[in-house]
Amino acid sequence: MNISIAPSILSADFGKLNEEVANIEPYSDLIHIDTMDGHFVPNLTFGAPVVRCIKTKLPLSCHLMVTNPGQHLKSFADAGADSIIFHIETVTDPHSIIQEIRDLGCKPGISIKPKTPASEISELLSDIDLVLVMTVEPGFGGQEFMKDMLPKITELRNHRSDLDIHIDGGMNAETAQAVVEAGANTIVAGSYIFKAEDREKAIESLRKPKV
Ligand code: DX5
Ligand code: ZN
Repeated sequence: MNISIAPSILSADFGKLNEEVANIEPYSDLIHIDTMDGHFVPNLTFGAPVVRCIKTKLPLSCHLMVTNPGQHLKSFADAGADSIIFHIETVTDPHSIIQEIRDLGCKPGISIKPKTPASEISELLSDIDLVLVMTVEPGFGGQEFMKDMLPKITELRNHRSDLDIHIDGGMNAETAQAVVEAGANTIVAGSYIFKAEDREKAIESLRKPKV
């Protein structure tokens, strides 16, 4: 499977967001956008009005770390989201959220926190476009990769060979290699890319793990 790289703008300089996006765009496959509500996660970031201002040709992958994702789907779709990822821990009727995302013309994705087992979403895997496996507790950039998440990635890959499996949290050249070996194909990385002196080199080191 090809490896895709999704820089997370959480670690970008928000004061010059479009410059930051333009800077990594030539080397990246999609842009990962972290919306946090200060309730589902302890941190606050931004919502659809900011997403609407992002200028890029790349698909926008919107990771909603919010208690009521259903309330916000339309505004993210209208703001230009390509995929909308909600947390399974926040919903009681995932099927209706998935359908609503599709009806809005976006790709549905489900994210799971580190303590949520893959079995919680196994029945939904055939209905969605992507899974986002959190390999840190959601809320902040720059945390350490939880390597005990590796078996979960393999379990998901064994469920569906063509599933787009995104890994979010603590990605660097070494941890990206481990998750790709475990079955992942999309690497989300914030601090490793945006804090790097050479962002192109950082991105390429995620894309081409040593064999
Ligand atoms: C954390 C976010 C991540 C974050 C990852 O809750 O979902 O997307 O940006 O940051 P790094 O790559 O620094 O661990
Ligand atoms: Zn994220």
